[in-house]
Amino acid sequence: MKKTLILVGLATIFVAIHACRKENPAPPPDPLVYDPTYISVEYPAYVKAYIGDMQHPSDNLLTEQGVALGRKLFYEKMLSNTQTISCASCHKQENAFDDPRPFSEGTNGTFGDRNAMAIVNLGFENRFFWDGRRNTLEGQAHDPVTNPIEMANTWPEVVSRLQNSPAYPDLFFLAFGTRTIDSNLVVKAIAQFERTLVSFNSKFDTYYHKGDTTVFTQQEKNGFEIFIGKGMCNNCHAMNSLLTDRDFRNNGLDVNPADDGLQKFTGNASDRGKFKVPTLRNIEASAPYMHDSRFATLEEVVNFYSSGVIQSSPNLDVHMPDFGSGLNLTNQEKADLIAFLKTLTDNEFLTNPKFSAPNN
Ligand code: HEC
Ligand code: HEC
Repeated sequence: MKKTLILVGLATIFVAIHACRKENPAPPPDPLVYDPTYISVEYPAYVKAYIGDMQHPSDNLLTEQGVALGRKLFYEKMLSNTQTISCASCHKQENAFDDPRPFSEGTNGTFGDRNAMAIVNLGFENRFFWDGRRNTLEGQAHDPVTNPIEMANTWPEVVSRLQNSPAYPDLFFLAFGTRTIDSNLVVKAIAQFERTLVSFNSKFDTYYHKGDTTVFTQQEKNGFEIFIGKGMCNNCHAMNSLLTDRDFRNNGLDVNPADDGLQKFTGNASDRGKFKVPTLRNIEASAPYMHDSRFATLEEVVNFYSSGVIQSSPNLDVHMPDFGSGLNLTNQEKADLIAFLKTLTDNEFLTNPKFSAPNN
């Protein structure tokens, strides 16, 4: 009898505990779900025909959430020590993500000795900086944050600011499935955003790649003939849809280059004075020109190629036309060449709201 009572008692307690559990349901599930939307970058078929598809690192495939986060980080001033500059302070959309100032000013009021570089179609490239010292966009994005003449910050400081901000942990969760932020995730997101910065919608594309010859004026046609003809500009600013052969070359700026260029990275004397061949897409918007901003205008650049190339420059590229005393373009030819260069402007790219500073 006693035993039965005890058993009934225990059973009652058990049922009671069980009921209790039911009345206190588990906390509501996380309202955010990690379910990334994989996307691809849109570009014309002729780009693929010339240079193949854009390559993405297998551990950093493009997602809608990753790109949105990268865009926010690209415009994020918390990345700099004084919280006053972002990547976009030196890479401005209206200037093809280049800096209109000859030398960019870092947070400490210091200036570098190189012109910032345009960020255009870099998803198709694999050597970055004027001297090629980085080979991924992810790797590249590590550098400005800690560079003393740029953002002059430390990664632990950046990570702690982002981690303690109201918005970022959730955004990292949506993009990468974790709220624990680290520098690798920051640069991954930024690189994803940069890969979306493609520009193939210029008048030149309509004329040359889409075959609508009515869009060029006679002057632009003449300029194009110089570009691929006597000027041999396409030897390096190649007709592969990128307007760069993605190589490093010396175009004859100096007898004695003050900046060693590619040699700084490789250590080889045969690389002295070689610099990355920049794309000419949106060149009208990305003045000043050359690694040290020595030319303020396209007129100055064209004058240089016409009569200023220094044949005794170390490692002068074999693809530089050797015309003895120079190309010696007439004023008309110079104007034509410049008119052609301006057909490489892609206004949709320079004003696309998807690439501008996000509202939140
Ligand atoms: C203070 C100005 C400044 C800031 C801020 C800055 N950059 Fe730059 N950026 C430069 C300069 C100058 C260069 C060229 C440096 C060199 O070649 O040594 C450059 C080069 C680059 C390149 C190489 C492009 C190519 O064609 O090889 C990329 C990509 C880039 N920056 C992205 C970024 C990102 C992403 C950020 C933010 C995390 C950033 N930059 C912040 C000035 C800046
Ligand atoms: C041998 C390869 C080569 C040839 C040929 C060549 N370039 Fe260049 N070009 C370069 C390199 C390399 C640079 C960057 C040099 C530097 O900054 O030190 C450059 C820079 C430029 C720039 C400035 C780009 C920027 O973002 O600052 C313009 C504009 C330009 N070239 C136009 C032309 C034109 C027009 C022609 C034909 C008349 C031409 N190039 C022929 C290799 C070449």
